[in-house]
Amino acid sequence: MTKAVAYATNKKLQKWITEIVELCEPDRIRWCNGSQQEYDKLCADMVASGTFIKLNPEKRPNSYLCRSDPSDVARVEDRTFICSEDKDDAGPTNNWMDPTEMRATLKSLFAGCMRGRTMYVVPFSMGPLGSPISHIGIQLTDSPYVVVSMRTMTRMGQSALDALGDGEFIPCLHSVGVPLEPGQADVPWPSNPTHKYIVHFPDDHSIVSFGSGYGGNALLGKKSFSLRIASMMGRKQGWLAEHMLILGAESPEGKKTYVAAAFPSACGKTNFSMLVPPKGFEGWKIHTIGDDIAWIKPGPDGTFRAINPEAGFFGVAAGTNLRSNPNAIHTIDRNVIFTNCALTDDGDVWWEGQTDVPPPHLIDWQGRDWTPASGRPAAHPNARFTVSTRQCPSFDAAWDDPEGVPISAFIFGGRLSTTFPLVFESRDWQSGVYWAATMGSEATSAAVGQAAIRRDPFAMLPFCGYNMADYWTHWLSMESKVARRPRIYRVNWFRKGDDGKFMWPGYGENMRVLKWIIDRVSGNAQDAVESPFGYMPHYKDMTWSGLEFSRERFERIMFVDRQEAVTEVEDQEKLFTKFGRRMPAALERERKNLLHKLLEGNFAHAAGMTRGDVNAKAF
Ligand code: GTP
Ligand code: SPV
Ligand code: MN
Repeated sequence: MTKAVAYATNKKLQKWITEIVELCEPDRIRWCNGSQQEYDKLCADMVASGTFIKLNPEKRPNSYLCRSDPSDVARVEDRTFICSEDKDDAGPTNNWMDPTEMRATLKSLFAGCMRGRTMYVVPFSMGPLGSPISHIGIQLTDSPYVVVSMRTMTRMGQSALDALGDGEFIPCLHSVGVPLEPGQADVPWPSNPTHKYIVHFPDDHSIVSFGSGYGGNALLGKKSFSLRIASMMGRKQGWLAEHMLILGAESPEGKKTYVAAAFPSACGKTNFSMLVPPKGFEGWKIHTIGDDIAWIKPGPDGTFRAINPEAGFFGVAAGTNLRSNPNAIHTIDRNVIFTNCALTDDGDVWWEGQTDVPPPHLIDWQGRDWTPASGRPAAHPNARFTVSTRQCPSFDAAWDDPEGVPISAFIFGGRLSTTFPLVFESRDWQSGVYWAATMGSEATSAAVGQAAIRRDPFAMLPFCGYNMADYWTHWLSMESKVARRPRIYRVNWFRKGDDGKFMWPGYGENMRVLKWIIDRVSGNAQDAVESPFGYMPHYKDMTWSGLEFSRERFERIMFVDRQEAVTEVEDQEKLFTKFGRRMPAALERERKNLLHKLLEGNFAHAAGMTRGDVNAKAF
């Protein structure tokens, strides 16, 4: 046991590790210092054990492919719990179990669960090392894949332990839940097929994860700590933990404007965060701070200051190519761990959408031979790359600035094929909170042509660590915390035309929308079109050089159909009524007022409401 606590001076850490070692009975304990040698050794060990395949160093230096178990390929939302004392504090959108009961369940699952395995002690900092806005976590895990991923995704190792000193840390306990009997051979991707739990305890801010080794289930600094636990902390301490990318747009004159944008999972945050300005935007530069998570605090200068607590990207591979996201392609040309991509015959990786024509032969993500005639995807749709943020060509040096960057606009956007226009600005903070709270996104259902909308408030549905209605109240209260309030926008890259195709070219072209937003927040383009949803750009206020996009097409993508809008706003009631007494009255008032405007027709002749002559006048 002396060995278990040898490196810890922190009393709470010593006590916790001693308890966990007694409970989980690992064969060995290893303290991770975060060095390159340690990373290389763990990767080499995983190559030897069959967990990793080393990729062709000529094609992809210092990179690996890992294949997970087919039953362990994504976050498990139905096995994710917020165990508050009172069920209402978790709210209707979170799974809940009584904390005493849950602790008993976990205790029996964890008993002896690391037998035959090494327990790694992984100290990490979310946010710049030693900065007052950062928070330290310690993850105990029996997965070497998690250790090497945590080294890329966080500031991990001895320096984080040094920064901790005798201070507070978030205890993150993780096991794949597959103990090994003496002599029993391991499998490449151990995970527990029947018991999975991703649990958060508000009383002591601890995290316990059992049974999965994949992504957000297992890299506990990410969703569990930086969103679920951090959102609880932010509520108490007056700040925000959000599922947002952060980018800075620099104009040809050298003026930088930072924005933070929340899109649901797999809806384009990575793409937007490292956007390459298209033709017509010569001299513009995008600077990437983060692609997934933002911590946002009121700063002394009266702005919201945002940092990216992470140090790496865990990005969706599918669809990433030189056209859709050239910066991502350059980011992942070396030092990458790929999970569930396909393997090419020359020892590189491939995924759907990487090239227009797939290679004639691949080994798919399950290790089987694959040809274009196989009729199944070669890479798993949730296949991902794990890579350091610093490798991104658009990486912003301000990423490491503990002061954070000043946010001028919050942008929210789901995947919506109908009803919602390309962009609008909310009238004020309160209506912006309403538009973020009611955000929906489509999960294409089995029925062809039908899309089920899932409400994903603030893109935080699976990530809010407490009652979502209280979270909205918190957001409403943040209005008064800064003098220079960001404006709030809704965007929709995914609207489809009558032909079923996306109406907006997207990707780099999203710069055109960003430019209008920047114009708005910097005091230009002030005579926007007023519609019931909010303010919209005139055709003339968008920068069109370098793109064929007719006024008529623009009118169609900005068009808000009255009946569709009424249906949408009426449907939002279902979401709001779930929250009962906790529902902030201001948001229901926003909804009612909007419905009234739509039905009464106060805006019958406003732009964006009807096609044809009215729009022509307004634009
Ligand atoms: P998480 O990492 O899961 O939180 O998601 P993310 O929001 O970072 O997802 P990502 O950027 O990897 O989104 C990937 C998906 O969005 C792919 O299917 C892309 O093709 C698609 N996508 C991204 N940007 C655009 C766009 O501007 N237009 C369209 N039509 N699709 C886009
Ligand atoms: C998401 O699902 O929003 C992700 C991937 O960013 S994971 O880290 O697995 O949650
Ligand atoms: Mn995410």
